[in-house]
Amino acid sequence: MSTTNNRRSFLKLSGLAGLGIATGGLVSFDAASKIEIPPNSGAPRFNMSGYAAPKIETVKIGFIGLGMRGPGAVKRMSYIQGVEIKALCDLRPKQAESAKKMLEGTAHDPKVYSGSETAWKNMIDTEDLDLVYICTPWDLHVPMAVYAMNAGRHVGVEVPAAKTIDECWELVETSEKTKVHCMMLENCCYDFFELLTLNMARQGYFGDIIHGEGAYIHDLVDLNFNKNGYENMWRLKENIGRDGNLYATHGLGPICQIMNVNRGDQMDYLTSLSSADFNMGKKAKILAAKDDFYTPFENANYRGNMNTTIIKTKNGRSMMMQHDVSSPRPYSRIHLISGSEGMARKYPTAQIAKGHSWISDAEFKEIEAKYTPEIVTKVGDLAKRVGGHGGMDFMMDWRLIDCLRNGLPLDQEVYDAALWSAITPLSEKSVANRSASVDVPDFTRGNWKSNAPVDISLTGGGTTNVLLGD
Ligand SMILES: NC(=O)c1ccc[n+]([C@@H]2O[C@H](COP(=O)([O-])OP(=O)(O)OC[C@H]3O[C@@H](n4cnc5c(N)ncnc54)[C@H](O)[C@@H]3O)[C@@H](O)[C@H]2O)c1
Repeated sequence: MSTTNNRRSFLKLSGLAGLGIATGGLVSFDAASKIEIPPNSGAPRFNMSGYAAPKIETVKIGFIGLGMRGPGAVKRMSYIQGVEIKALCDLRPKQAESAKKMLEGTAHDPKVYSGSETAWKNMIDTEDLDLVYICTPWDLHVPMAVYAMNAGRHVGVEVPAAKTIDECWELVETSEKTKVHCMMLENCCYDFFELLTLNMARQGYFGDIIHGEGAYIHDLVDLNFNKNGYENMWRLKENIGRDGNLYATHGLGPICQIMNVNRGDQMDYLTSLSSADFNMGKKAKILAAKDDFYTPFENANYRGNMNTTIIKTKNGRSMMMQHDVSSPRPYSRIHLISGSEGMARKYPTAQIAKGHSWISDAEFKEIEAKYTPEIVTKVGDLAKRVGGHGGMDFMMDWRLIDCLRNGLPLDQEVYDAALWSAITPLSEKSVANRSASVDVPDFTRGNWKSNAPVDISLTGGGTTNVLLGD
């Protein structure tokens, strides 16, 4: 056995390889010790990609989680034809009651479930629901989604859908077993420039797609440390002790749809690297000096501010995803697509290039006229009036309801929820191992080769009206 092999064996046996620990002056990390995430070896029970559930004329919805995000979803759904808001649930009675109040004067009179950690189970057991819409803290997403699916309810679950690889598989297996949809509510797939570039990619404007970039760069420091922000400081706690791309799906979703990931291409492996913390610990110390409430947060284990994750696909494409929620920077999801003939990027300002040159403003308008997808023509202006991140939230909700009412496959299936969410624990694993390469599980278990790309037309649907007065 060669010296190198001997060293590898020693590191493997001693369990030090995974920790990247240097021994006796040898190299500090053995690049050959690639960390494998074991694939789920079972066969798919059923392929949910492209699955059309039976049509539902009136979609009866129960909401769980009515903090900062949930009430906006309730309001948006109240503007959609063929929706009945049947039930509202939040741990905190005040939150649930105020969401109910918001619906006064509308056709909706939901029952409120509240006051206990498990009131949501009571809601699912009691109410005749078609869809459970989940807007709770991250660690509750999977228990709630799985319980709802096992009760035969379709699920819409906020981002990220799951926190661990096991949880991702649990979502996949439950959706396949129950044949109900589990859609992660990745609203950024429905933003205007993202939809435009998806259609441009489909029509071949960029040529072969080679590379994509996305991000979640959003300074949340003040909100994360605000006592009256996230319930029980859950989101600040998520940033303690964890190091990776903690909120990957906003950047990933639109790029994956453009690359047909899960539907013609698949992720292969990734590598992830984080900076140290220069922001959160500092903020905690300033606050703790003035207010005892922050004492437990003062010396907490804050980790990387900027995480960069790079991903290779099986068809040879690359992606770069960044996450930084603590540096004082302008908001950005990057959204860059680079192809063999053209490119586009959304931030800092939306620009498109053909060959070596950015196109002019007049050409940009021509592109918009030519490639704006049907969903935007149909409900884009109404979506802007309803609002929700400039309209993308409403387009997402409208499309979800229109698909359910017309018995159409959803644009985002459980495999997307699982894969896009899985990038977080996989990036954490890579960061913890000096950026070693990590295999990405194939949640479609081979079906990615034949799954059809997302249908961006409204074929078979587009029949659901928006209930806005003139
Ligand atoms: N897609 C987007 O653009 C977007 C934007 C903001 C938030 N989000 C996501 O929405 C989710 C909620 O975020 P938020 O900002 O509203 O947080 P939040 O803390 O304001 O709200 C969470 C709510 O869940 C409730 N809750 C906690 N435990 C519960 C339980 N056992 N039963 C019922 N309710 C319970 C809390 O009381 C709280 O009202 C998160 O997953 C977040 O990532 C997504």
